[in-house]
Amino acid sequence: MAKKKNVLDFIRMKKEGEQVAWVTAYDFPMASFAEQAEMDMILVGDSLGMVVLGYDGTVPVTMEDCISHSKAVRRGAPNTWIVGDMPFGSYQVSDEKAVENAVRFLKEADVDCVKLEGGKRVASCIRSITDAGILVCGHIGLTPQSSGQMGGFRATGRDVGTAKNLIEDALDVQEAGAYAILVEAIPPELTEFLAKKLDIPVYSIGAGAPCDGQLLICGDMLGMFQAFTPKFVKKYANIAEDAINGFKEYVTDVKEGKFPTDDYVYHVKDSKEAFEKLFKEFE
Ligand code: KIV
Repeated sequence: MAKKKNVLDFIRMKKEGEQVAWVTAYDFPMASFAEQAEMDMILVGDSLGMVVLGYDGTVPVTMEDCISHSKAVRRGAPNTWIVGDMPFGSYQVSDEKAVENAVRFLKEADVDCVKLEGGKRVASCIRSITDAGILVCGHIGLTPQSSGQMGGFRATGRDVGTAKNLIEDALDVQEAGAYAILVEAIPPELTEFLAKKLDIPVYSIGAGAPCDGQLLICGDMLGMFQAFTPKFVKKYANIAEDAINGFKEYVTDVKEGKFPTDDYVYHVKDSKEAFEKLFKEFE
């Protein structure tokens, strides 16, 4: 089993041009599969609201949801770097509240760091959490918690005006003390510029290859999330199709009396006569 990575490994990997592969996971089995696949890190994203809880977006997700899912992920992946995603409302109210929630994440769920969305508007919050001794991963570009303000889940940074704002945001996030930054749904040209400009690792989700690593949502890449598939997702499996086909076959087997057959039952150990006698007692 590979040794658990730490922040110094991620800094070294950037320097040496070694790509980081990460994925979201929300429960024990998925985390355990990711660890067995030697994933460099796992994000317990608040996308759990859409992927596993069935909400339309991430806004309803609570700290309790994130902590409970992160605990399961830690149990499934004890040797993998885990990023806990700060849900909407857990860091917007005040920097003090943000530190309190980040501390909860580490103490209760044993994550290695936290991630939060935004650039200059969350810089003081990143600074406060970092000053409390907690590693922070920034997240700019398409930020799902504020997708309402952006007019939906849309790519950004495609024109010079929004690209300039994103460059300033990225510099503010680095300056505030973040150890890494995730850029979502921005053009690869801008991603490449940021990866070269910033000293901290720059990771992409839907932002192209020229940076320090890639993240995908497990529900998208494994074909479990059926509501929609973003353009940037490559599907590596089709779990929904396999599950539906498996369930259909089971329904048919049950209805046609083909399941369970003798192979799937526990037969009596005592004699047939002893059981007949027992049953008679209750007739
Ligand atoms: O919650 C999540 O999975 C995320 C990704 C969209 C980056 O924040």
